[in-house]
Amino acid sequence: TPSPVTVTVTGAAGQIGYALLFRIASGQLIGPDTPINLKLLEIPKAVTAAEGTAMELTDCAFPLLRSIDVTDDARRAFDGTNVALLVGARPRTQGMERGDLLEANGGIFKPQGEAINAGAAEDVRVLAVGNPANTNALITQAHAPDVPAERFTAMTRLDHNRALAQLAAKLDVGVNDIRKLAIWGNHSATQYPDLFHAEVGGKNAAEQVEQSWLADEFIPTVAKRGAAIIEARGASSAASAANAAIDHVHTWVNGTAEGDWTSAGVVSDGSYGVPEGLISSFPVTARDGRYEIVQGLDIDPFSRERIDASVAELTEERDTVRRLGYI
Ligand code: NAI
Repeated sequence: TPSPVTVTVTGAAGQIGYALLFRIASGQLIGPDTPINLKLLEIPKAVTAAEGTAMELTDCAFPLLRSIDVTDDARRAFDGTNVALLVGARPRTQGMERGDLLEANGGIFKPQGEAINAGAAEDVRVLAVGNPANTNALITQAHAPDVPAERFTAMTRLDHNRALAQLAAKLDVGVNDIRKLAIWGNHSATQYPDLFHAEVGGKNAAEQVEQSWLADEFIPTVAKRGAAIIEARGASSAASAANAAIDHVHTWVNGTAEGDWTSAGVVSDGSYGVPEGLISSFPVTARDGRYEIVQGLDIDPFSRERIDASVAELTEERDTVRRLGYI
């Protein structure tokens, strides 16, 4: 049996947490043979609710689930952690300015970064799901100087999966027939889902759709999907977000298929004009347990303009949290 993996989930009593924990405990995060120790972090008033979820996890009698620890203490939650899923965040409420949102989240992600730095396992991998995910990942990373920066990522896999599903429906193909789709930039409405390098049945995807569909339907549908779900469901996407978090970590650990890539928010090395150090979504491959930015792609002017706009938003978010003293 492989050695057990300790997985920390923050915001464990929330709706994504509820959709996520059972799948982790059943073995879908890492692999079907890897035992799991779960650590659930919540704010004090939600600890009892998280304990209720822990009771249900126990009642599933998952063969791989070795232990569950529920706490409101970040140091304890991240002690020895191999995979940290940062789901808990301060949501934007009515009338809240962007700066207030960044400030509230700085107050959450700074201490979590410090706790990861202090006690996480040598091989820790961190995924920020809670919004604004890219900048929350950046704040966390800034407070964990002893952990390699490449271990801090932000989730754009849900956007990637949404884009796959939209394109598959449009071309009446299976999602497995699509390769090399990419989400660039911020996990926000400015994100850029890129079909110009994507292939369907071995042929360029952008050439198989009308330019008007690409610009006026595909891009806005993917970028505004989160809002459309809230409108329809009366609550934000949870099961699909949990699914994407599972995909993100599973791919990170197990790798991408030969001839394909995926999308993830990773620390920029300056590629494609994205300022070094920003956590931005790129096309990435995973090999030997590392995400790497796909290099050498030609960026056409249509894509360039959209990538730049999303990266400009990320730069602004970084400047704001810098001004607030969070990085
Ligand atoms: P939720 O409101 O149901 O749950 C959030 C939980 O986090 C709550 O139980 C809350 O008590 C907890 N929490 C707040 N501060 C905390 C802290 N300091 N430490 C530990 N726990 C804390 O929200 P939901 O639906 O589960 O979503 C969570 C986050 O994920 C939101 O920020 C949401 O915007 C984001 N999200 C991101 C997506 C992505 O694609 N990157 C997709 C969907 C949601």
